[in-house]
Amino acid sequence: MTPPPPGDAGAPSWHDVAAFDDLDSDFPLGVEIEGQHVGVFRQGDEVYALENVCPHAYALLSQGFLEGGVIECPLHAAQFEVATGRCLNEIGQRDLACHSTKIEAGRVLVMLKLVS
Ligand code: FES
Repeated sequence: MTPPPPGDAGAPSWHDVAAFDDLDSDFPLGVEIEGQHVGVFRQGDEVYALENVCPHAYALLSQGFLEGGVIECPLHAAQFEVATGRCLNEIGQRDLACHSTKIEAGRVLVMLKLVS
C-alpha cells in the first residue's frame, strides 16, 4: 500500500459507492464510509448523500419511506428533505448533514462532510 503524499494525510477523498444505474429512485441505498452511515438517494438524474442515522433515536433512514423528495424515518416518522437534509417536523430534531456527491463514468462518488 502506498502511503499518502506529504500534507495529504486526513484530506477528504471521494468514495465509490454504487453504479448510478443501480440506484432506484424509490429505494435509498445505505452504505458505510469510514465508519459513518450514509444514505444515498437518487432523485431523477441527481444523487444526494445524507447522514443516515435519524437524530431522534437509532434508525437508518435509508430503511424509511421515500416519497416526493422526502424521506420518512421508519420508526417514528421524522421527515427530511432529501435534497437539503432539512428537517420537516419536530420529532426529527435537526437537519441532517449533507455529503458531497458526483457522478463519474456512471459511478456515484461520495465525499464525507467533516462533522464535528
Ligand atoms: S428514530 Fe427516527 S423518528 Fe424516531
